[in-house]
Amino acid sequence: MHKTDMPNKNRFFLAGVVGWPISHSFSPLMHNYWIKQNKCIGLYLPLAVQPSGLATALSVLKPLGFSGCNVTIPHKQMALKIVDEVDETANTIGAISCITVKKNGSLLGTNNDWYGFVANLKYEYPGWRADTGPAVVIGAGGASRAVCYGLMREGVKEIRLVNRTFSSADLLASQLGTSIKPLPWETRHKALEGVTIVVNTTSQGMIGQPALNISLDHLPKNAIAADIIYTPLETPFLTMAKKRGNPTLNGIGMLLYQGIPAWKQWFNIETTVSLELRKIMESSLITG
Ligand code: ATR
Repeated sequence: MHKTDMPNKNRFFLAGVVGWPISHSFSPLMHNYWIKQNKCIGLYLPLAVQPSGLATALSVLKPLGFSGCNVTIPHKQMALKIVDEVDETANTIGAISCITVKKNGSLLGTNNDWYGFVANLKYEYPGWRADTGPAVVIGAGGASRAVCYGLMREGVKEIRLVNRTFSSADLLASQLGTSIKPLPWETRHKALEGVTIVVNTTSQGMIGQPALNISLDHLPKNAIAADIIYTPLETPFLTMAKKRGNPTLNGIGMLLYQGIPAWKQWFNIETTVSLELRKIMESSLITG
């Protein structure tokens, strides 16, 4: 933390996460750790808000003294229409993950999910280079949009996008850029040829869901297999990749790293992802 950015001792640092349901969220654990680590007095709250109450809930952030909030399922797209201002990145991705209450009380929507994915990838694999080969992204939902945006911003020249419903992949590609090549679902196995990274953004492999149905036979041995799922920490897709010797990346790091720009936006504090925080998050994910 920079000296000039030292938090005001009289300030109460208040933020939260708006979602429905929200009781499963690990964000409060992470942000309340940072409140302590940065010697702030404050609180980060889980806010259970139904879609019908979203606009009202956001309108009281300012009078209640919130610096801002995260936005999660199912509000990421609806919140974009409610806030006063949306930055260019969130507009491109088509969803917001974070709201900052500006000094004048207006609400600014941003998206930090892409940053979380890229920052974690670069931390875990500093030797990975975006321009050395294509990437495969599986899935074409909201999370896929953030991952594709992040990979493009890093300089990946070709993103092969495979999705069960081709039309969603096609639409995403037409909105995000020409480096994204939508491909039919049946081609997902072969699409792995020559890539530097493959990312699962579907719900397949999550606790309670079947494993992602894909063969890794065509995946180069040095390609990174990444999953944005963190329940479980190791999905069947990652287990399969690990078994054949591929480097892997689980989803917890994306959640951790997207918190860093949020802290800068809300509190003007540069916080960090410590090993201790990662361990606390991982062990609470295991114990539930
Ligand atoms: P998120 O916002 O978390 O990305 P989402 O928008 O619901 O969630 O997207 C879920 C993704 O998982 C979609 O790409 C979805 O594919 P479809 O567009 O065909 O629905 C994918 N998905 C869900 N169930 C799947 C399954 N059984 N097999 C393959 N893909 C699946």
